[in-house]
Amino acid sequence: MAPAFALLSVAIAAVCFLPPPVVVQACKSVGSNRTFADCSNLPYLSASLSWTYNHTTGTLSIGFAAPPVAAGGWVAWAINPTGKGMVGSQALAAFQGADGKMVVKTYNISSYGPIKESKIAFETADLAAESANGMISIFGTLTVGAHVRTVNQVWQSGASVTNGVPDKHPMDGGHLNSTGILTLTDSVSPAPARESSTGERNGSNLLYFFIFIFLLF
Ligand SMILES: *[C@@H]1O[C@H](CO)[C@@H](O)[C@H](O)[C@H]1NC(C)=O
Ligand SMILES: *[C@@H]1O[C@H](CO)[C@@H](O)[C@H](O)[C@H]1NC(C)=O
Ligand SMILES: *[C@@H]1O[C@H](CO)[C@@H](O)[C@H](O)[C@H]1NC(C)=O
Ligand SMILES: *[C@@H]1O[C@H](CO)[C@@H](O)[C@H](O)[C@H]1NC(C)=O
Ligand SMILES: *[C@@H]1O[C@H](CO)[C@@H](O)[C@H](O)[C@H]1NC(C)=O
Repeated sequence: MAPAFALLSVAIAAVCFLPPPVVVQACKSVGSNRTFADCSNLPYLSASLSWTYNHTTGTLSIGFAAPPVAAGGWVAWAINPTGKGMVGSQALAAFQGADGKMVVKTYNISSYGPIKESKIAFETADLAAESANGMISIFGTLTVGAHVRTVNQVWQSGASVTNGVPDKHPMDGGHLNSTGILTLTDSVSPAPARESSTGERNGSNLLYFFIFIFLLF
């Protein structure tokens, strides 16, 4: 009886203290050998975003991947600090430059109509682009500020580039709906709110365990 009980207790304890299942988000590869803490498939344009955010330094490293509308086209990813759509977007766009190499350019998009390369509201570093298997990837680090919870993201793709300027994107539903909110949780050490909820969960596991033991007697 005693050994059976001990065994049962151990089994129950094992179940109670099992870590919560980790939800692994299946994301398309963003190419190269860069790694990011988080990753999400975006709901339009077959795009995905991988990112690592550091709450302390306020830096957001991203890897965005999407297929251009046609070979020789472009893809872009942006943060819009002032609204939800294209106007106001602080954009990174990638396409093949005149020399055949992939380039990333920044655009402060202040109106509809032709876009012009310009400085953006965020400090940028390590901008790079890659093209492989029909996908273009954009990499870079943006200083978005410390302890930011959410940013409005906008992404886009187009079919062609003329004289180094991305041409207007298609106007179908997917290309008009490609905006959303990106939630920035601290990528390595958990945010304080998360830590406390994990603590409570362990506490309640422990409580259930003792209630169970109590009921056994
Ligand atoms: C709470 O549980 C999680 C996983 O279930 C574990 O990583 C963490 O260390 C535990 N915390 C404490 C205080 O036991
Ligand atoms: C892959 O990682 C190695 C070592 O860190 C680095 O030298 C190389 O440039 C990386 N390759 C790409 C494509 O980023
Ligand atoms: C972006 O454009 C807007 C509107 O023209 C302007 O007010 C803002 O200062 C520009 N931002 C940067 C970083 O140049
Ligand atoms: C875009 O959004 C609108 C309004 O939310 C919706 O009616 C439409 O179906 C969406 N288009 C696509 C292609 O999902
Ligand atoms: C954020 O950056 C600081 C300074 O580089 C570093 O010490 C810290 O470990 C980073 N935090 C995370 C969660 O990576």
